Amino acid sequence: MEQFFSIAIDGPSGAGKSTVAKAAAKALNFVYLDTGAIYRTVAWHITLMGIGPKDTDHVPMLLDDCNIRIDFQEDGQHMILNGMDITGEIRTPEIAACASQVSAQPAVREFLLDLQRDLAKSHNIIMDGRDIGTVVLPDASLKIYLTATPEARAKRRYDEYIAKGQKTTFEEVLKDQEKRDYDDSHRAIAPLKQAGDAVVVDTTDMGLQESIDYCVALMRERLGL
Ligand code: DC
Repeated sequence: MEQFFSIAIDGPSGAGKSTVAKAAAKALNFVYLDTGAIYRTVAWHITLMGIGPKDTDHVPMLLDDCNIRIDFQEDGQHMILNGMDITGEIRTPEIAACASQVSAQPAVREFLLDLQRDLAKSHNIIMDGRDIGTVVLPDASLKIYLTATPEARAKRRYDEYIAKGQKTTFEEVLKDQEKRDYDDSHRAIAPLKQAGDAVVVDTTDMGLQESIDYCVALMRERLGL
């Protein structure tokens, strides 16, 4: 069987995971999978159905009607839910908070596990998320734990929301982020945690391009590319 490379990038929100992973995938000609977008898609689905993310009775039932397809297009990963492209809809603070809460449900994590693993079996892939190196791909060719201070991360998210015309304040983004960091790293199942064999990259004092260059160099060196 053909062997593929897999690179896991985990870390808290706003550390630059998706930007670094996307750029690195382009540089190495790998597929980039944003796993957060999959959890956001589930969050969108249950919100649409009027069910809360902590409802452990109804969320598992709704998963039966949650047909998720991932379409890798020229401009990146598109999330197709029951035939509808909702890629643009899931990038809001509300969906981020809902995704964080719903992702704590074991049924949701179980439901998404094979989807993620199957992609790694058939592509050279870079995945970013919270539990990629610890749970989804414990045998990844390389694991990176990307992090930065809470303030630096919140500033990046805030700039992103403002650029998209969304109304929010820095304080609000920081507060939401603190809650999400806490919840993501304290949930019982697959919490955000650095894998023992992950390389830690702190991007607090790095510009975007610097973080990308550093990680791509690390990947090339470790994978012999
Ligand atoms: O990376 P993101 O902000 O798009 O992720 C949204 C939420 O989804 C995040 O707060 C926690 C959850 N998530 C997860 O539990 N496991 C992953 N591999 C990716 C995201």
